[in-house]
Amino acid sequence: MTDSIAINYSNILSDKIGEEHGLTLDELNSIQPLASSIHNSLKNKREKGELPFYDLPYQNVTEILDYAEYIKEKFDNFVVLGIGGSALGTIALQTALNNSQYNLLSKAERDGCPRLFIADNIDPVQFTEMLSLFDMDKTIFNVVTKSGGTAETMSQFMIIYDRLKKLKGDRWKENIVVTTDRVKGTLRKIADEMGLKSFIVPDGVGGRFSVLTPVGLLPAAVVGIDIKGLLKGAALMDERCRKDSIVDNPAYLYASLLYLSDTKKNKKITVMLPYSYALKDISDWFRQLWAESLGKKYSLNGKVVNVGQTTVKALGVTDQHSQIQLYVEGPFDKVVTFLKVEKFKTEMDIPQNPPIPPLEKGGKGGFEDVSYLCGHTLNELINIEMEGTEYALSKNNRPNCIITFPEISTSTIGQVMYMLEVSTAFAGGLYNIDPFDQPGVEEGKKYAVDALKKS
Ligand code: PA5
Repeated sequence: MTDSIAINYSNILSDKIGEEHGLTLDELNSIQPLASSIHNSLKNKREKGELPFYDLPYQNVTEILDYAEYIKEKFDNFVVLGIGGSALGTIALQTALNNSQYNLLSKAERDGCPRLFIADNIDPVQFTEMLSLFDMDKTIFNVVTKSGGTAETMSQFMIIYDRLKKLKGDRWKENIVVTTDRVKGTLRKIADEMGLKSFIVPDGVGGRFSVLTPVGLLPAAVVGIDIKGLLKGAALMDERCRKDSIVDNPAYLYASLLYLSDTKKNKKITVMLPYSYALKDISDWFRQLWAESLGKKYSLNGKVVNVGQTTVKALGVTDQHSQIQLYVEGPFDKVVTFLKVEKFKTEMDIPQNPPIPPLEKGGKGGFEDVSYLCGHTLNELINIEMEGTEYALSKNNRPNCIITFPEISTSTIGQVMYMLEVSTAFAGGLYNIDPFDQPGVEEGKKYAVDALKKS
């Protein structure tokens, strides 16, 4: 299969970087019995419908596509009001699959699609400034909250409701579409009472596993992303993830590499380092997925374990001039995952013979010292710089692995997101914790609500 993503993990093994920091094949193979038992438990739960995120690649998306067409015809701006798992997947899809300057393009250049804004914060300045950009009548707001009551999202919704109501009276509803639980939560109640257009976050799919539900698919379809292609990519990965062998199942392999690096080699930090701007928000999305799912106080047996790796996002080549010094020579506490793209969607040449400024008296001329760049491409340069970082890390006994994308497409993005979700579910089993809850987040949410009620 030519468009399959692949994991190269040789630089995480002791053969390459030594036993103190690298995993031996025995260490890797030793978790196969545990992996098989986690595999069986996940498979049983999937078959019983308890882990519905697994089956999202096979959903019918006709309603989403039809509604996206309607939005495209009627509106110039599509604004997502949502936070955490209700926003990060959408941001990742947009950065990966659309023009990096999407909102600056003309409507024709956007194939008639609306501009996309994602309000995943309640900073008053940022929100005010964002709203000042819109003709409210030409803007549709997608209120996304699984629980239906998140303070950040609901406060934004109330502000928008108030403005739309003043502007349009009873026609305010035309500018709202909600994505929330089928029956539970305040937003579902409001949507049903007021007859708002709504989409459903399927039962049992939590925020950070919801990118392939209407949470991510509706905004993606609105901005012209081929969501069927995305699901097809996820389905391809699902096939690969049905195996129980950790070396044949990419999701299990990746989770095992990070888990063993953490628990056997004390790598408490996992860095995702894409050498592609398009992939930068995949690492932001993964940062939440891995951290919020696996950072847990209690094991499934109720024992205090305080597990979880700290996820760090970085970006090549930008962070070579910011973080790499630390990763290569600082504490031995990290495992790095490169995201590498083989074929970028465009190629940019560095000119063979740029006009040379006049020679300095007795010195060298203009670009002469950097003439080794001439005739190459930025594509070659970015990947050679990645190889340089890989070399420096490995030489300094720093574990690292590479996820290679033949190209960035709906298929490969669907593959990687599905793979990382399965990796996270599987890693929950390795750590023996529940990867699907988030009691620590709920604690903070409750504090804020109680404090506001009292004041
Ligand atoms: O992944 C999660 O469950 C969280 O990050 C939620 O997505 C986030 O807290 C927002 O919650 P909700 O979608 O209920 O508004």
